[in-house]
Amino acid sequence: MDTDVQVEELDTTDPVARAAWHDVMERAARADRPHALVTTAAAFEVTATSPSTHYARTWLQAVVGGQGGVGHEVVGVAELELPLSENTDVAWAEVQVLPTHRRRGVGRALWHAVVERARAAKRTRVGGEMTVDTAAPGPAREFAAAVGTVEKHREDHLVADLPVAMSPVDPAYDVVTWRGRCPDEHRKAYLAMRNQMNADVPTGELDLEPEVLDDERLATSEERLMRAYDVRVAAARRSADGTFGGYSLLFVPHGTDYGWQDDTLVMPEHRGHRLGAALKTANYADLPDDVRLVHTWTAPSNTAMHRTNTALGFRVVEHMYEVEAPIA
Ligand SMILES: CC(C)(COP(=O)(O)OP(=O)(O)OC[C@H]1O[C@@H](n2cnc3c(N)ncnc32)[C@H](O)[C@@H]1OP(=O)(O)O)[C@@H](O)C(=O)NCCC(=O)NCCS
Repeated sequence: MDTDVQVEELDTTDPVARAAWHDVMERAARADRPHALVTTAAAFEVTATSPSTHYARTWLQAVVGGQGGVGHEVVGVAELELPLSENTDVAWAEVQVLPTHRRRGVGRALWHAVVERARAAKRTRVGGEMTVDTAAPGPAREFAAAVGTVEKHREDHLVADLPVAMSPVDPAYDVVTWRGRCPDEHRKAYLAMRNQMNADVPTGELDLEPEVLDDERLATSEERLMRAYDVRVAAARRSADGTFGGYSLLFVPHGTDYGWQDDTLVMPEHRGHRLGAALKTANYADLPDDVRLVHTWTAPSNTAMHRTNTALGFRVVEHMYEVEAPIA
């Protein structure tokens, strides 16, 4: 390793340091991933400056040129996330190094710093997401293997250019939409669907407990998300009895021209009506004209959702691997 490289914790009270951390993360991620969806500076500001009750986060940086001294330069960054409510045996990690400083042990040094902190917090495994471009894969998988992780699950990262053709809504349902906080009258049904989603989503060989949302946790998450994202939900309600059959959740980071498709769920007894595609396209149709692209992630094994996505015009641009290393 470069002898003058030091790993230190980001001082989250320093706005200049936060901006530098984010800038290095973004440049490193984009270097070999033209389709990368990168946390915006505004979203990073929210996460870094207002701690969550459910996750403890630490940001690390690899610096050259001395700590705080002349020529001090951040060349790599890492994020460590410790779930506090579920999965308290796990630590999540992400490591990024600027292309100019790769293959000198910086990534490994950041990984070790993450593992050391994860062990101190009594975690027994470290997980992470490694994403590579399908056309020109970067070094993520080789790095992940070199530090001892194994692949547990794969998802495709897909993008679609907007507009996409509207999918018709089954006449037995009407579509209810909202932005930001879920209206009070729908919260109970929305919470039931969100928890069903967390329990149902395929995670391959990842052995994880689903997150359980209650009204308070949902409200806190909505409030945090709304500070960085335009949060949009389309839900399907059966006209005959008013029951909710599914929802689709979309985020548009403030100040950007793309959306990011999060959950889409159709409740078991409402499947078979093509509600998933109808809800997604209802959300897309509502977007301002300057939003030109939507990102989504689907496991190739999730045949129904993969077909829905490709039929809408989504194309696979990256492969995302969820990896894990035992550290006990
Ligand atoms: C992956 C990444 C973090 C590696 O950083 P780095 O500082 O170059 O990593 P290191 O020098 O510590 O490499 C550690 C080991 O990983 C493997 N490795 C790293 N890059 C590699 C490459 N291009 N080809 C083959 N193996 C590679 C090697 O085994 C290497 O050990 P060695 O140099 O002794 O052979 C960096 O390339 C990066 O930021 N990529 C983009 C972001 C990313 O994909 N991050 C991982 C997702 S969390």
